[in-house]
Amino acid sequence: MSTPAQAPRNSPWRRDPAPTSLGDRIVRFRDPLHTHEALPPFPAYVKRPAPIAPTPTVTPKTRIVPPRFADVRGRRVVMLETAIGDSLYATGEVAGPLLRDATRIRGRNTDCFGYNSRSRSLYQSHPWVLGVRRDGRAFGVILETTYSFEIDLRAGIVLACDGPSPGVVVLERDSPEEVLGVLAELTGTMPMPPLWAIGYQQCRWSYEPDDEVRRIASEFRTRQIPCDVIWMDIDYMRGFRCFTFDPEEFPNPAKLCDDLHAQGFRGVWMIDPGIKVDAGYGVYAQGRDGDHFVKADGAQGGGEYHGSVWPGPCAFPDFTRARTRQWWGDLYNDFIAHGIDGVWNDMNEPAIFDGPGKSMRDDARHDADAELGGPDAHARYHNIYAMQMVRATREGILRARPEHRPFVLTRSNFLGGHRYAATWTGDNTSNWEHLRLSIPMALNLGLSGQPFVGPDIGGFDGNADATLFARWMGIGALLPFARGHSIKTSVPHEPWSFGEECERVCQLALRRRYRLMAYLYTLFREASQTGLPIVRPAFFADPRDPSLRTIDHAFLLGRDVLVVADVNPPGKRLAPGSKPGGVLASWREFDIVDACAELPKLYIRPGAIVPIGPDVQHTGEILAAGNGTTSAERTLLVAPDEHGAARGVCYDDAGDGFGYQSGEYVLTEYVFETGKITGRVIEGKMAVPSDYAITRV
Ligand code: GLC
Repeated sequence: MSTPAQAPRNSPWRRDPAPTSLGDRIVRFRDPLHTHEALPPFPAYVKRPAPIAPTPTVTPKTRIVPPRFADVRGRRVVMLETAIGDSLYATGEVAGPLLRDATRIRGRNTDCFGYNSRSRSLYQSHPWVLGVRRDGRAFGVILETTYSFEIDLRAGIVLACDGPSPGVVVLERDSPEEVLGVLAELTGTMPMPPLWAIGYQQCRWSYEPDDEVRRIASEFRTRQIPCDVIWMDIDYMRGFRCFTFDPEEFPNPAKLCDDLHAQGFRGVWMIDPGIKVDAGYGVYAQGRDGDHFVKADGAQGGGEYHGSVWPGPCAFPDFTRARTRQWWGDLYNDFIAHGIDGVWNDMNEPAIFDGPGKSMRDDARHDADAELGGPDAHARYHNIYAMQMVRATREGILRARPEHRPFVLTRSNFLGGHRYAATWTGDNTSNWEHLRLSIPMALNLGLSGQPFVGPDIGGFDGNADATLFARWMGIGALLPFARGHSIKTSVPHEPWSFGEECERVCQLALRRRYRLMAYLYTLFREASQTGLPIVRPAFFADPRDPSLRTIDHAFLLGRDVLVVADVNPPGKRLAPGSKPGGVLASWREFDIVDACAELPKLYIRPGAIVPIGPDVQHTGEILAAGNGTTSAERTLLVAPDEHGAARGVCYDDAGDGFGYQSGEYVLTEYVFETGKITGRVIEGKMAVPSDYAITRV
């Protein structure tokens, strides 16, 4: 452990004598040995350089304790002291408990198939720590580096990176919510997704040929299991060549898209970064002729950098450059013209089977734009490679179809990358440990700025069984991104694959999600405005209560709904006291589907009104019922507080497109007082839904 006590005597711990204020209680500290050097660009920030409201001096009321810098075992490290009662969270995509105290990670984007709670590096990296003080006030720490880094939380916060000494930004606020608000001001918010992307999604590696895709879609409708999206994994391609279609198995993608649309489904198709080295393949030839690929270091012979992925030797677009992002983005033009609704960018760490650490050599060369830091080695750009890829993808799709909201899913990413793509927690395993991990992983990603996240429901690698699958669907259906997915070698993992009882639980779980869609959509809108996560740790209900700080089996959906899940195998069921205490003890249980012991329990906050929508098979039915808007039939779930009052809001718009940016939306506030409900438009110019049923809880 690197503590001041262990620092070599010739290397005293030093503080930055002249930190810069970036705004109210937001301070950037520099290593005093390096303050003469210019800070490199940090692409996590929306505005560059980062200041929110520059002020010349550090605000006096700050409680920020300045970090200290020193040499420890040959590298510069920075240490921030924490106080008794502080709890640490976030650090991005991490497998393990919600509370990150006493953990250690290495932030290096890694293809970590088979990961578990001992894995130090997963697919994404977020050089960011959220701290909650004993009194419920909060702070955040950003290490401004794109190089691989370490976050060691075993005694205070100790940070180090592989590159030049970075800036360290420390910010203080009165609550964790406010800290996340500042993070959002710095790193941006998630754009509003189309409504369909919040529906349930079914994937497998792979549904093939195209008739199998049609069969899966029909099964959902015949069995009346709600679903919005079917996914096309790599086998639709011709020999794993991106932007092509296998002539035998997927001869007519446009027809497949039409058939899916006719049944109310959308299709999301995979695109990886590795472009097969094959002179006869148009995308490769264009990339080579346009000089778009990452180069090998001179000592390695220069020329294109090649590494093996699914199609064998591949070249990799250099997304650190606008010119290449433009080329890449334009490739989606013809691709999505087939009727493709969304894009899945996978393997973008980048994963390279024969590369060091299953990735690209650190000495590969990027011809990066000055905006990102200029030409440099892969070591500098490794962690933002995927982020720049999904930036190109999103922008390309938007250019090709400007009237629709793009939907992009990415496996790898970096702090701030939520501006471009949603994410899932990669190749998890079909076992109870991974079911348990799904909740804290989604929560910590939310606390790191990425609200649109969920696991492969049922587990990717291995075989689920009926109990595990049903339980996972119950939980996954309440997480922001809800997709079932499984590996090629697993037994079928569709909701009906494990017998009638499991199918019934899955159906109920998904009906719940769809009935909660109005509430969920309102939370997506809130996240896109404020950066607040959609699912939040239980301690958000009362950040001062230490009993709520370590809860991994329960979470808040927004501010008003508590979800308590049973993540233990049969025989190890949770004791009745599994409902969190403190302020949450008074929350009232409710449900909107038939009672089912396998589903997580739902509780509503006294004083809240939660909008509930119709029971539908897909979100298209909501839009049809709402005359092209999300404001379909609505029931208001009212939980009066001790004064008999309750309040809630609901957001509605067209469910797609950008009309909402010019006021084509409505935010309605519902107030319940003296036994009566009133609705009042607080924002937007769209017509208000006036009819609602009321259910008291
Ligand atoms: C990677 C992805 C997985 C996908 C597979 C084949 O392992 O993480 O989701 O199914 O590649 O494309």
